[in-house]
Amino acid sequence: MSNPGEFPQLKNDLILRTLRGENVERPPCWIMRQAGRYLPEYHEVKGSRDFFEVCRDAEVAAEITIQPVRRYRGLIDAAIIFSDILVIPQAMGCVVEMVEGKGPSFPQPLRTEQDVQRVLDYEVDITKSLKWAFDAITLTRHKLEGEVPLFGFCGGPWTLLVYMVEGGGSRLFRFAKQLINEHPDLAHQLLQKITDVASEFLARQVIAGAQVLQVFESWGGELSSMDFDEFSLPYLKQIASGVPKHLAKLNYTGDKIPIIVFAKNSWYALDKLCDSGYDGVSLDWSWDPKEAVKINNGRVTLQGNLDPGVVYGSDATITKKVSSMIKGFGGGKQNYIVNFGHGTHPFMDTEKIKFFLEECHRIGSQ
Ligand code: CP3
Repeated sequence: MSNPGEFPQLKNDLILRTLRGENVERPPCWIMRQAGRYLPEYHEVKGSRDFFEVCRDAEVAAEITIQPVRRYRGLIDAAIIFSDILVIPQAMGCVVEMVEGKGPSFPQPLRTEQDVQRVLDYEVDITKSLKWAFDAITLTRHKLEGEVPLFGFCGGPWTLLVYMVEGGGSRLFRFAKQLINEHPDLAHQLLQKITDVASEFLARQVIAGAQVLQVFESWGGELSSMDFDEFSLPYLKQIASGVPKHLAKLNYTGDKIPIIVFAKNSWYALDKLCDSGYDGVSLDWSWDPKEAVKINNGRVTLQGNLDPGVVYGSDATITKKVSSMIKGFGGGKQNYIVNFGHGTHPFMDTEKIKFFLEECHRIGSQ
């Protein structure tokens, strides 16, 4: 079932051609958190079920993944599997709950050296613990019928460490900062273990049917430039180089799989990220596209970067900001993927998002 040769033929390879650096007719478009709570059809399917229970049900996860592709048919050039970055901590033995209206919560966050050691000693077997994720990808790939490529993803090691140590979202990052400053060696051991699991997880998502990958280092910007170089960048690089190595070990003989990194608010790291082994670098809205293009100098494909809040504005505002974004990224015919600078909000208007996508197509085709 997971032999890529057996999947329906891909009809839209725009994002794959773009990530290979080819000249294209318009920039591909997709949106972080394009599936989920702003879509009424998501609530209909999810009902009152637990978030992770929904992720683990392959049929339902496939349906939710495809919902935005169906609603915005012809306007969205990739699907992203419906799951979460916190499934890696779960596979490493941590309990993670999704609390309605609050977000993720770890009942037993890693607060002592013994807590961290317990996770380091935990025997991870993702072929067992994350089998459901691979099944969901394989089923979704079939159900997409080749309409658009399917993204697999994982969290960046530093971001996952933050969640495991803080026990959820945070404002001060007190416990994560304590770990990297008080026990840097232990922090490195934990980051290394997360990195090894993440690399294997991404490779196995490819075997299951993922055609493009993204790493979400959403808390990158909480590190200083110096700490990013020590606690994030080396591990992000290891993931980029580790995925092909794992794929070779798994006897993968398919196409080279492009991989994108999103290190939110790590503006100081753009130059280094362009040389870190990724095909694409996703930018948050703190960037002036023109400056990012200058620093990148054609090394990778850039992705982003409007504040999703733009869809709260009038159509004229959306048109103006889309135009300046696409022009800032050089017009969109090479090395550029349209996205927001971060995910959609649950309150967003589906029609406004449609207008945003239509304008990206219109202006990006000019
Ligand atoms: O459409 C998609 O983008 C695919 C699915 C996806 C989800 N989470 C679904 C989700 C993806 C790619 C993620 C990644 C993710 N999860 C990140 C990285 C991207 C980012 O936003 O920075 C992070 C940090 C998480 C952790 C996480 N999961 C948080 C902080 C929350 C709660 C906050 C929120 O937005 O509610 C989640 C829950 C979550 N993940 C939901 C969805 C659709 C909401 C769950 C619900 O239906 O109640």
